[in-house]
Amino acid sequence: MWVPNLPIVILSGVTASVGALCLFKDLYGGVSFDKNILAEGKTVIVTGATSGIGKEASWEFAKRGAKVFMACRNMAKCEEVRREIVLETHNKYVYCRPCNLASADSIRSFVERFKSEEPHLDILVNNAGVMETPKGVTRDGFETQLGINHFGHFLLTELLLDTLQKSAPSRVVIVTCSAHQKGKIHKEDLNMTENYDPVAAYNQSKLANVLFARELGRRMLGTGVAVTAVDPGFSDTDLTRHMAMMKSLTRFVVYPLFWPVMKKPRTAAQVVLHAALDPRLQASAGDYYVDMKKVAPSELAQDYELGLWLWKVSEKWTRADAHKAALSRPQAA
Ligand SMILES: *[C@@H]1O[C@H](CO)[C@@H](O)[C@H](O)[C@H]1NC(C)=O
Ligand SMILES: *[C@@H]1O[C@H](CO)[C@@H](O)[C@H](O)[C@H]1NC(C)=O
Repeated sequence: MWVPNLPIVILSGVTASVGALCLFKDLYGGVSFDKNILAEGKTVIVTGATSGIGKEASWEFAKRGAKVFMACRNMAKCEEVRREIVLETHNKYVYCRPCNLASADSIRSFVERFKSEEPHLDILVNNAGVMETPKGVTRDGFETQLGINHFGHFLLTELLLDTLQKSAPSRVVIVTCSAHQKGKIHKEDLNMTENYDPVAAYNQSKLANVLFARELGRRMLGTGVAVTAVDPGFSDTDLTRHMAMMKSLTRFVVYPLFWPVMKKPRTAAQVVLHAALDPRLQASAGDYYVDMKKVAPSELAQDYELGLWLWKVSEKWTRADAHKAALSRPQAA
């Protein structure tokens, strides 16, 4: 009599399920952006380009022939990733440049150097982000998540706006996520010094991203600078490194559970490519896209007064005008 070998039955069951999960992940994981749309002759800046979506977006831009500036904090890691991208894409026009979004001085130095090297900027991708960090402040004294995810990018964009306008048609892509829907702007205490909650601070920063995209888009109407906010969906990136949940043992339980529905970073990066290169999005004025489809952001995110308020506070807190003035002064020899 033939008796099924139990270990083999279990093993093939497991293999089949893993296969099904992979298939599911591929189907669920979103579609790729049109490979035929190239980026030759375009200069791109990507913040947070050493890992996750930023790394994959940089790879894709390089593959499509763009000149890519990776704006990063960790230069050793950046160089490692840059080499990998150059080897794989055969595009040597990929550069690492120091830029710490937690410091206005670092942002200004980055812009200063960029402008001295490059006359044009076609695409700015505001991607870097931190998630659910412990209570803390940036070098300029802003709550860490709002400081890096919003204020840093606000200043970076403001300082590059003249170059973007000169290079029109050009684009700004702002990476946000669905957490903006639960976000509130804590007008009375943006720094969240009282009752700091890492998740609420993250949600606030992601709402700030959408508000910024909309207000910038409105201001850029008719200038040829398109602005798009994108939600890459639930992806498997380094962002999770800050999540307390992921640090503990639970990680080994939670991670496999979510793995099938988490997008691979290369897949998640496709929404950035779409916003940066799809000819139909050149007229985007702060629109919000999820999985390459235009959708309405939360009601608060559409609050024009709130967006304007945040813009004014951001200008003041980042001392954007002072930095702009310093940049436009001729450099001492
Ligand atoms: C938050 O911090 C910044 C920088 O230190 C400061 O200018 C601002 O007044 C603070 N705001 C609040 C509401 O605490
Ligand atoms: C933050 O957003 C997440 C995702 O939308 C939500 O589950 C959570 O309840 C929100 N938390 C706070 C404190 O706003």
